Amino acid sequence: MKQSLYVSPDTVAKSVHKDVACISCHTDFKLLSASQDHAKIVDFNKTAGISCKNCHQHVNQLREYSQSTHGRLALTGSPKPAPTCADCHGSHDIRSLKKDEAYKDAFHLAGMDVCGKCHKAYADAYNDYYHGRAYKAKATDAPACWDCHGSHQIKPAKDPTSLVSTQRLAKTCGKCHIDSQANFSTQYGPMIHGSQKTLKSTIVMTYLDKALSFIDPMLDSVNGYYKSIVGSLFYRER
Ligand code: HEC
Ligand code: HEC
Ligand code: HEC
Ligand code: HEC
Ligand code: HEC
Ligand code: HEC
Repeated sequence: MKQSLYVSPDTVAKSVHKDVACISCHTDFKLLSASQDHAKIVDFNKTAGISCKNCHQHVNQLREYSQSTHGRLALTGSPKPAPTCADCHGSHDIRSLKKDEAYKDAFHLAGMDVCGKCHKAYADAYNDYYHGRAYKAKATDAPACWDCHGSHQIKPAKDPTSLVSTQRLAKTCGKCHIDSQANFSTQYGPMIHGSQKTLKSTIVMTYLDKALSFIDPMLDSVNGYYKSIVGSLFYRER
């Protein structure tokens, strides 16, 4: 079977890598005879997905990633489906997260795809009233998964160097909440993914959940007003 290696110029047009040679990422590319299937002979996509480290090694991303749960698994070829750089960033259409505002905003709201494809249970349970629901309703100021977990340095919560460990939670929440004290974050922290469990545990709470989802759209309309008052007390713009 012949395999097409065609990539549309439209796809790469806005990419930060439009001047990067195909072979810089596809380091294992070989010319094969037409009867050989490229994808089956070499681990074509995975090699490209991790090749990023060859160029992005002078900054923190690679160091942090190699110490994270994800990097430790992906770089050692573990059978667990851990993300390569490309699993989170994409491949031929990567744009600047620093300079391209539209892309940055779209990426911020893509957490359910970026992380949710592998962590469905936690993504579904990211449903607390102040953050998860607002995030899923596309509120741009609501935290994406990585605003709490970090992007390249993700570790289990019980690891004290994890951004969501009890030791570091106050600082993590404090990026947005000036008044974040240790007990503010450790009390509310477990609610962020825990609402689903709590809400389903009693009939009264299930009823309350339904009522809240009914008034959610109404709250949206007063949200701007609410923020200008409550926000100035609790919430600091980043
Ligand atoms: C910035 C790195 C990078 C560059 C540059 C790059 N690619 Fe890729 N490419 C990738 C990654 C990562 C994947 C795997 C995507 C995935 O896993 O879905 C990929 C996948 C592919 C695939 C397989 C698609 C599929 O459906 O499985 C083809 C074909 C391909 N690239 C061709 C090219 C060609 C031709 C060029 C040059 C015009 C190029 N690539 C440049 C990173 C790159
Ligand atoms: C688990 C998902 C994930 C993986 C794996 C991942 N990234 Fe990222 N990366 C992100 C997210 C999310 C951001 C944006 C962070 C933000 O907006 O605060 C980001 C930002 C970046 C940026 C631009 C912003 C900056 O920090 O300078 C670069 C460059 C980057 N990543 C490269 C890489 C490379 C190279 C790898 C592999 C060694 C990698 N990433 C692996 C999720 C990931
Ligand atoms: C041949 C070297 C090279 C390879 C391989 C490469 N990059 Fe890049 N990358 C660059 C250069 C050069 C830039 C533009 C300068 C910059 O912003 O760092 C860039 C920019 C980026 C940015 C945007 C940074 C910003 O402005 O927010 C991200 C994200 C990124 N690369 C991720 C990746 C990922 C993911 C891969 C692998 C699929 C990859 N790169 C492979 C050289 C490379
Ligand atoms: C390609 C699949 C994949 C993607 C994408 C992915 N992860 Fe993971 N993640 C894993 C695997 C596999 C582990 C290790 C789980 C284990 O060891 O049982 C893990 C571990 C974790 C852990 C540590 C908890 C634990 O069980 O060890 C957290 C937190 C986490 N990921 C959050 C995220 C976030 C946030 C994102 C998006 C920025 C993300 N992940 C993207 C596959 C993925
Ligand atoms: C507002 C902060 C915040 C956001 C946003 C957030 N989380 Fe979490 N997450 C936490 C905290 C705190 C914990 C530890 C307590 C717990 O397990 O509920 C946690 C735990 C986790 C764990 C289990 C970690 C472990 O070690 O067992 C995973 C996986 C996870 N989150 C994934 C995600 C994903 C995927 C998203 C986005 C859809 C997300 N989180 C968004 C704060 C957050
Ligand atoms: C990216 C920013 C961001 C991060 C990080 C963040 N929050 Fe929030 N939080 C918000 C926004 C936005 C609201 C909604 C309040 C508003 O509309 O002003 C909110 C509201 C709240 C509220 C209800 C109002 C209040 O201030 O008492 C609590 C409690 C809260 N967050 C706890 C936490 C905890 C605990 C963490 C860390 C696990 C955390 N937040 C991380 C942005 C963030």
